[in-house]
Amino acid sequence: MKVVICNSNVEAAYIAADMVTAQIESKPNTVLGLATGSSPLALYEELVNRYRRGDISFACTTMFLLDEYVGLPVDHPQSFKTFIRRVFTDQIDVKAKAVYVPEGNALDDQEACRKYEVSIVEAEGIDLQILGIGSNGHIGFNEPSSSLASRTRLITLTEQTQRDNAPYFDHRNDMPTQALTQGIGTILDARSIILVAFGLKKRDVVKSAVEGPVTAMMPASSLQLHPNVTILIDEAAASELEHSEYYRSAFGGVTS
Ligand code: F6R
Repeated sequence: MKVVICNSNVEAAYIAADMVTAQIESKPNTVLGLATGSSPLALYEELVNRYRRGDISFACTTMFLLDEYVGLPVDHPQSFKTFIRRVFTDQIDVKAKAVYVPEGNALDDQEACRKYEVSIVEAEGIDLQILGIGSNGHIGFNEPSSSLASRTRLITLTEQTQRDNAPYFDHRNDMPTQALTQGIGTILDARSIILVAFGLKKRDVVKSAVEGPVTAMMPASSLQLHPNVTILIDEAAASELEHSEYYRSAFGGVTS
């Protein structure tokens, strides 16, 4: 794992945007995996800025979202489909039909999840996956106890995740209790992964994910099994790490 301790989430966004840019330059038909949530917002903003300046084109890319709530109308302002369109994909030149989102309203969840996996395989796999991390260590919506080999499936959200995400909804009761999510096995199939995490609220899960044991109870610890992961964090999120001096000396050069 490459752990890069950044001065701010804006600096992390630049570094991540440089990685996305390099990936698309080397392979214009790159397949990107996208997280929603607050952590990657500065990255998406930076990528939109680069697109507007003419520095990058997404015209040949394909994008797969990590997850989608079950039971929300697709045009609900907090559906992940609407969210990613608003903050990123509607503002760049990716083709609308090249942006895939798990079908949270499918009549047959299992079939929708199976089809999602097939679509990823047909796109020849995800080249670069962007991840955030939940306050309970989830990646995608793979809650603690998710199999490290899990594939795209229906999952019930923990009380903690429901509490964390409820503020985005007008009424607490509007917050869905289930989602479709790429599995941990699906995520680990990506050829490279960037995880972004910021703030004191994430310091304990960052510590466990990076320096703790690999366990299904801390889904992000599964990233230790992947050969090409970059963790971009700020000082606050890094504040519990035991080996931060090593990360600064080994990987700090990326930021300076
Ligand atoms: C979002 C997702 C989640 C979030 C995580 C962190 O698509 O899959 O794993 O990345 O809940 O959310 P934020 O960034 O809002 O703290």
